[in-house]
Amino acid sequence: MSTILVTGGAGYIGSHTVLELLTAGHRVVVVDNLDNSSLESIRRVEALTGKRVDVHLLDLLDRTGLDLIFAKYRIDAVIHFAGLKAVGESTQQPLRYYHNNLTSTLHLLEAMKLAGCKTLVFSSSATVYGDPERLPIIEDQALRTTNPYGATKLWIEGITADLAKAESGWNLVMLRYFNPVGAHESGRIGEDPAGIPNNLMPFIMQVAVGRREVLSVYGNDWPTPDGTGVRDYIHVVDLAQGHVAAIDKALGGALPGWTAINLGTGNGQSVLDMVKGASKAVGRELPYRFSPRRPGDIAACYCDPAKAQRLLGWKANLGVDRMCADHWRWQKNNPQGYAQE
Ligand code: NAD
Ligand code: UFG
Repeated sequence: MSTILVTGGAGYIGSHTVLELLTAGHRVVVVDNLDNSSLESIRRVEALTGKRVDVHLLDLLDRTGLDLIFAKYRIDAVIHFAGLKAVGESTQQPLRYYHNNLTSTLHLLEAMKLAGCKTLVFSSSATVYGDPERLPIIEDQALRTTNPYGATKLWIEGITADLAKAESGWNLVMLRYFNPVGAHESGRIGEDPAGIPNNLMPFIMQVAVGRREVLSVYGNDWPTPDGTGVRDYIHVVDLAQGHVAAIDKALGGALPGWTAINLGTGNGQSVLDMVKGASKAVGRELPYRFSPRRPGDIAACYCDPAKAQRLLGWKANLGVDRMCADHWRWQKNNPQGYAQE
């Protein structure tokens, strides 16, 4: 049994990963400042698994607080989810994004070094490929970003790569997520965005529960089969299991130095495919209208997932129907997210 520190563990992907880590037999310590989440997610994970999670309300900008965590526990590895993630907001508030995401990560790496903990799995993103030069995307393709959020991911990848070059003993794994959707099949934990959702699936599901009137489909003139944007949607439970595989391989010494790995299904789905899948799950046609393209969007983005399969022995198993059915169960049972309790 290993002890895994999960930063941002109360958030969407974090809470699902904590559940999978506990199920796999790991001990979990969470740090989160609850900037974009609620403790209720962790309480529900504990109820679902029958296991306890040590949660510390801590901002990673508090370096001393972080050192105290490493002093209190013998942490074997860290999964670093904590960060701000809204692309649009990052263009409005670049200093907040750079400070929060970069300073937090520097603090974490310094605290890890001090404690002699050298295994890290980091939440990177397909955003590091920008408008991809080729599809499907392989990991050694050119990296570029178009917004401060993406720049923080790219910088953190660069900082950790420099660290692995400079010092031996680190196992630094960058997981580049494609588009996480869905929820745990219990319908007890899921994505709970604050305000108007930026992302497609939460918006569709809020239309389904009557919190929003109609989905705006951003563009039907993209160079894709049906004219709407294509993405590689991945079930959050598959994604969470990808983290467990990465932690187990890294702790076993199979991922020395620095490694970047795509986590996606390898399949591209259009916006209309997702509306169709969601309508099937909900049991009625969900309303949408075409609107102009959203600034900064790209036509299509999907990965080649072969490296994940080769290095982690992991691949995504759940398809669009499961993604939509599970996301809907969560939204239907929790129309206001965690706020209702
Ligand atoms: P989320 O907002 O639900 O979770 C992030 C968590 O980090 C939240 O609980 C938040 O309170 C916490 N946090 C933020 N700043 C912190 C700080 N300074 N100190 C302590 N806690 C802090 O987001 P998510 O969707 O679960 O994403 C997790 C990670 O995955 C993020 O780094 C995100 O950039 C990355 N990612 C997400 C997606 C996606 O579409 N959801 C795609 C690619 C990458
Ligand atoms: N879309 C709509 N209407 C909406 C929301 C989205 O039509 O209300 C469309 C978008 O135009 C796009 C697709 O649905 O074609 C997916 O959009 P999302 O906002 O859900 O996801 P993105 O691929 O644009 O962005 C996501 C993450 C980013 C990350 C990026 C690349 O939100 O953080 O993937 O990894 F940078």
